[in-house]
Amino acid sequence: MESRISAMTSLYAFIASPAHHSKSPLMHNCAFKELGVNSVYLAFDIESDKLKDTIKGFKAMGVKGANISMPHKQNIIPYLDQISTASRLCNAVNTIILKDNKYYGTITDGIGFIKSLEEKKWSINSNKITMVGAGGASTAIMVQMALDGAKEIVVYNRTIREEFIEIINKTSKETGCLITLKPLSDTSSLRQDMQDSYLFINTTGVGMEPMLNQSVVPDSSYFHHDLKVADIIYQPAVTKMLQMALDAGCEIMNGELMLLYQGAESFKIWTDLEMPINKVKKVLGIEVK
Ligand code: ATR
Repeated sequence: MESRISAMTSLYAFIASPAHHSKSPLMHNCAFKELGVNSVYLAFDIESDKLKDTIKGFKAMGVKGANISMPHKQNIIPYLDQISTASRLCNAVNTIILKDNKYYGTITDGIGFIKSLEEKKWSINSNKITMVGAGGASTAIMVQMALDGAKEIVVYNRTIREEFIEIINKTSKETGCLITLKPLSDTSSLRQDMQDSYLFINTTGVGMEPMLNQSVVPDSSYFHHDLKVADIIYQPAVTKMLQMALDAGCEIMNGELMLLYQGAESFKIWTDLEMPINKVKKVLGIEVK
């Protein structure tokens, strides 16, 4: 046991299933240690039928905060006392904090993605963006880009779901950003939208295990060399889609900076402190510039 852990140590948690691949404990424990915060962060593999009891137990134990990941980001909402506007629009939560014995939920994925764009000096302001995916992470990214001044967002997804169309309509109305949803099978539209875009993003799991050698874009002829290309996957570091983009001469970004900055945002919510980014980058094996 580390000597910094005492009878006064606060507990923060990661709840998901599977959970034991997560890099969040590394990040947050590094930050707690670096800043001398008497807290510890642990990962818990929680199956869906245990989620309600977990939150109840956490509240009884005074667990100060947690990150929520797959498959609980949406299902946790009924067990929380309050959620943020971003969580309401996305219908997803990835961070909870205990305040006055109440759990408040919000989502930091979108802010994390925007901060990773800022580090790359990629500007979404007044630009057109094409993205693939309509899941929890996709929605958070789409909503945050719309809130932060994107001009137009075209979302491609394998499935066209009424629920997602409602989110798009609500987000368009509240932000003034033009957002459209198209089927991923419409490859000629995809080619055209990618041609006209400043940024292309894959927000699906296509490209990581168990879909490792797959890509949401059919081939590298879809990319033009001025297109910025992001994948929120960080394992592998270069997905098949990112390799196609590299082959076409594009600048690329994988998901490791988004992972870092969504964590930094959760850390700020819990502690009111800035995460020591360069220290955490070292722990995660991210290049420090
Ligand atoms: P997360 O919360 O991590 O975003 P999710 O909510 O399960 O995860 O969303 C997964 C996204 O990946 C969805 O957009 C999903 O498409 P569907 O809505 O059609 O299911 C997309 N996805 C998963 N497997 C895919 C595949 N083989 N081809 C295309 N899209 C896929």
